[in-house]
Amino acid sequence: MDLGIAGRKAIVCASSKGLGRACATSLAEAGCEVVVNGRNRDAVEATAADIRKATGAKVVAVAADVASPDGQKALFAACPEPDIVVNNNAGPPFRDFRELTREQILDGVIANMVVAIELTQKAIDPMVKRKFGRIVNITSGTVKAPLFGLDLSSGARAGLTAFMAGVARSVAGANVTINFMQPGTFATDRLASNIEMNAKKRGIPFEQAKAERMATVPARRFGLPEEFGATCAFLCSSHAAYITGQNLLLDGGAFPGAF
Ligand SMILES: NC(=O)c1ccc[n+]([C@@H]2O[C@H](COP(=O)([O-])OP(=O)(O)OC[C@H]3O[C@@H](n4cnc5c(N)ncnc54)[C@H](OP(=O)(O)O)[C@@H]3O)[C@@H](O)[C@H]2O)c1
Repeated sequence: MDLGIAGRKAIVCASSKGLGRACATSLAEAGCEVVVNGRNRDAVEATAADIRKATGAKVVAVAADVASPDGQKALFAACPEPDIVVNNNAGPPFRDFRELTREQILDGVIANMVVAIELTQKAIDPMVKRKFGRIVNITSGTVKAPLFGLDLSSGARAGLTAFMAGVARSVAGANVTINFMQPGTFATDRLASNIEMNAKKRGIPFEQAKAERMATVPARRFGLPEEFGATCAFLCSSHAAYITGQNLLLDGGAFPGAF
């Protein structure tokens, strides 16, 4: 399918690895010019080179912390008027909520709520003017089905979802959409480190913890980042113009509800 977005400019935050990288790759395959981002310069430049080689697209690497004002400035200096913004950032570590300090709670809210709002503020008016814009927020399946220990992640991302729900309706008439992707368990470094932590805590081998986690997914496997990336590119496509303010759960059937 031609996604109808060749030549569009995209900023994909936190994209040197994992789900962000997969979104950047799929957008580049669709013909977009892409800004990729991560804090580790070598990693982000290597990712940019890989995507360029694989797709022939223009890919710019921005080594910066997306949560910092300077990092955001650097992203918009590389792409001043993006047509597409994929908001992504690291999630807070797994922790009993009793242990969280006020500072850690505020940091989590900044990382998983405030940053995406700030980037949307910067991107949205030119999108409205051009009558095309796609904002995709990578949140988490835990927004829909909270998981004890990821409470800060669930809370901050649910806050973002509610905040953006009104914003999405305010710009829908200008062909600017804002949607949310809720990953369940995708095979990335983040998932591997979660499983490792769980295995250590319970004193069991990594492979056992991994198999147990996989067995909780009706699809009986973890999601592939490229499946996530392809879905993101579709949400950014010209065909998805009538989809806005929606939460798309990608979890291999793990959430047990009909709705
Ligand atoms: N994988 C899953 O199954 C799953 C499930 C639910 C939710 N999620 C959420 O989805 C998001 C992506 O997860 P993932 O699995 O793709 O993680 P990942 O494999 O650990 O990749 C994270 C990426 O974000 C970059 N990054 C982290 N902090 C950054 C910052 N402050 N500024 C710029 N870049 C930053 C990392 O590069 P640097 O470290 O070099 O900065 C890396 O490229 C996370 O918020 C995660 O909580 C994932």
